[in-house]
Amino acid sequence: MQVEFVARADGAKASGAWAVLAFEGATLSTEAAALDQAAGGALSRALSAVAFTGAKGKTLDVIAPAGLDASRVLVIGVGDAKSLDAARAETLAAEAFNALKTSGAEVLTLDFADGSAELAARAALGVRLGSYRFDRYRTTEKPEKKPTLKTVRIVADDVAAAQAAFAPLSALADGVTFTRDLVSEPANILYPVEFAKRVKALESLGLVVEILGEDEMAKLGMGSLLGVGLGSARDSQLVVIRWNGAADPGAQPIAFVGKGVCFDTGGISLKPADGMEDMKWDMGGAGAVSGLMLTLAARKAKANVVGILGLVENMPDGAAQRPGDIVTSMSGQTIEVINTDAEGRLVLADALWYCQDRFKPKFMVDLATLTGAIIIALGNDYAGLFSNNDELAENLLAASKASGDLLWRLPLPAGYEKQIESMAADVKNVGGRPGGSITAALFIQKFVNGLPWAHLDIASTAWKKPSAIATIPDGATGYGVRLLDRLVADFYEG
Ligand code: BES
Ligand code: MN
Ligand code: ZN
Repeated sequence: MQVEFVARADGAKASGAWAVLAFEGATLSTEAAALDQAAGGALSRALSAVAFTGAKGKTLDVIAPAGLDASRVLVIGVGDAKSLDAARAETLAAEAFNALKTSGAEVLTLDFADGSAELAARAALGVRLGSYRFDRYRTTEKPEKKPTLKTVRIVADDVAAAQAAFAPLSALADGVTFTRDLVSEPANILYPVEFAKRVKALESLGLVVEILGEDEMAKLGMGSLLGVGLGSARDSQLVVIRWNGAADPGAQPIAFVGKGVCFDTGGISLKPADGMEDMKWDMGGAGAVSGLMLTLAARKAKANVVGILGLVENMPDGAAQRPGDIVTSMSGQTIEVINTDAEGRLVLADALWYCQDRFKPKFMVDLATLTGAIIIALGNDYAGLFSNNDELAENLLAASKASGDLLWRLPLPAGYEKQIESMAADVKNVGGRPGGSITAALFIQKFVNGLPWAHLDIASTAWKKPSAIATIPDGATGYGVRLLDRLVADFYEG
């Protein structure tokens, strides 16, 4: 979707579809009033004909208003004028886009009240996020289902200021889009080597990307991660992405680690057929880390950041690992694999250990579609947060509030570690049904070597089917990119 900012023009000459705001008491925004005047009062007559009060959530679509070139003017009720903040502008813009995307119009102009650069920029972000579609494999879509809108123009008092305010948000939209594309790709197209290749292409933005293959991981002793990929015809990959944007490029970095299970059949502990196709999304953590790194590079974040992706495919063939197998992780700790479907934690065990061993970061945050239990605990709006460090957890919660990527903190009670004690090895990879997300987090904690660390279980939020949020179309959400971009911007830059 082409999104651009435009200066105010003569309302009578306005063409294409328009969306404008109205407030409580049926007051039109200044510019909506100008359009109304150009239309000889056609808009206000239409509004009073349906007793439109400007109440929040109410809209009136005025088709072909007399006296205007515009094909239609969608009047959106905001309610109290003071409630129009940047977050609201973002949502309203996405809603207006959704309402008119298949209307036949190719150009939509949004006029958002006071024309402030910040509101205009956030409206543009709303359109970028809300207009996302994954349609590269559709060859026979009916024309009436295809969006007709090609360009969204956003009116701003100061076009240059709006463009400047939008620059970092455009980088964010690019990152979220990259994540959504990765997560949406089916597993026959996006397997570990292909995933790594797509991330390697981000070097054009100034990122440094290294790819470790199975031989290199074997030399490092990553028996835990490699065990997961044994049953797959596809090679496992570990990807290291670096962005050195701090004034001192040698300063201690911060680190993000993603679970990238390109497909999770469960392995020999095979999942039931029903819904298994969703497990193409089991690389949502790695997808989010990739999108985040893109965003940080695109907006030239003043921070040193490491992103690590553990990319595998969990399949059941004759070479696959079996329940009861014992693997040795890079940390030296041995793991009894009770259930081959608890594979994400096995991948993270080596990816996190490698990360702290090589980079000695200030902290590590991992993202993983780790447990079905987190969906049972929190539903589909919140991801689970686990941390051994209150400051990091508080910063994440603050970034969560600011970004809208919701998080809820859960405990890491040492007593529950009993549930993952093994009879034969240092630890086992499952702890039974009680507190399943917690015992998964406790398992991972054994591989962070005491570093400040947080684990985000995003099994609940990596995709929405269906979505009720205008900026998140059905499917891959891109959850985590916005959260962590905010975390970096608000706490770890400068
Ligand atoms: N990828 C799944 C978790 C998952 C489930 C994500 C549903 C999204 C939706 C993970 O690898 C898994 O299979 N976890 C098991 C763990 C169990 C075997 C201890 C689970 O949650 O059932
Ligand atoms: Mn699994
Ligand atoms: Zn999984």
